[in-house]
Amino acid sequence: MSSQTAPRKKVTTLTFRERKEHGEPIAVLTAYDYATALAADRVGIDCLLVGDSLGMVVLGYENTLAVTMDDMLHHAKAVARGAKTPLLIGDMPFMSYQVSAQEAVRNAGRFLSEANMDAIKLEGGRAVAATAEAIVGVGIPVMGHIGLTPQSVNQLGGYKAQGRTATAARRLIDDALTLQDAGCFAIVLEAIPDRLAELISRRLLIPTIGIGAGAGCDGQVLVTHDLLGIFDRFTPKFVKKYANINGEMLRAFTEYKNEVLSHQFPTHEHTYSMPDEEWHELVSEFEEKELA
Ligand code: KIV
Repeated sequence: MSSQTAPRKKVTTLTFRERKEHGEPIAVLTAYDYATALAADRVGIDCLLVGDSLGMVVLGYENTLAVTMDDMLHHAKAVARGAKTPLLIGDMPFMSYQVSAQEAVRNAGRFLSEANMDAIKLEGGRAVAATAEAIVGVGIPVMGHIGLTPQSVNQLGGYKAQGRTATAARRLIDDALTLQDAGCFAIVLEAIPDRLAELISRRLLIPTIGIGAGAGCDGQVLVTHDLLGIFDRFTPKFVKKYANINGEMLRAFTEYKNEVLSHQFPTHEHTYSMPDEEWHELVSEFEEKELA
């Protein structure tokens, strides 16, 4: 028997639907670069979202509002070069889909034609349903995103959990059903009560992907920089840190700096050598020139 494992099959939007039907969870992470995409693919992460959280965790902005299509495409291209198996989703940045459905379709198309993404995600409920439908209508799979929608941070009055009253919860249920009717293949539920997320998940035929929405969702997503403990400016309650890369980075940078200052780095091990005869030829040439 061969010890080699068969190559994994590309994850598609159909895989998402099958997972839901079989009650098998979907593991999603965000990614913004080649190395992370390679690693996530290697361990079998189902789906990589090139999120506009890029603006906060990579580009250092206060929120996601300044992220542009060009920023997103630049990073999406790097992710696509690294990850072959996961479903790849490009996140539509602020103002790339709100002005008109026509502009939204054009920008969504760029994720597929220029950056090798398989699908796009946009934020909002009923307000973006027609736009989602227009994008789906040209053959581009769309993931919805409701609950805490960071692009509306100014309207929401901060990064707060949503759907905590019966009225707000009812609205979110309607939004989810509207997005499903518009043709979305999945919906992100962000920062909503677990009971509500479970109820929405049970009522939908398409999978829900939760972030701060409890265990009743069909899949989970986390921002990779949060999970790895790279980004420590702000950690939402729902983040589980699986590593402390920021701590490890501080340790390594300090050690490097100290070794450079104390001449401990580089040593012979990290240096290139030159054969003796070549070196002697060079030195004698220089000595002759100096004597002449
Ligand atoms: O931008 C992002 O990373 C997201 C996830 C948090 C779902 O939208």
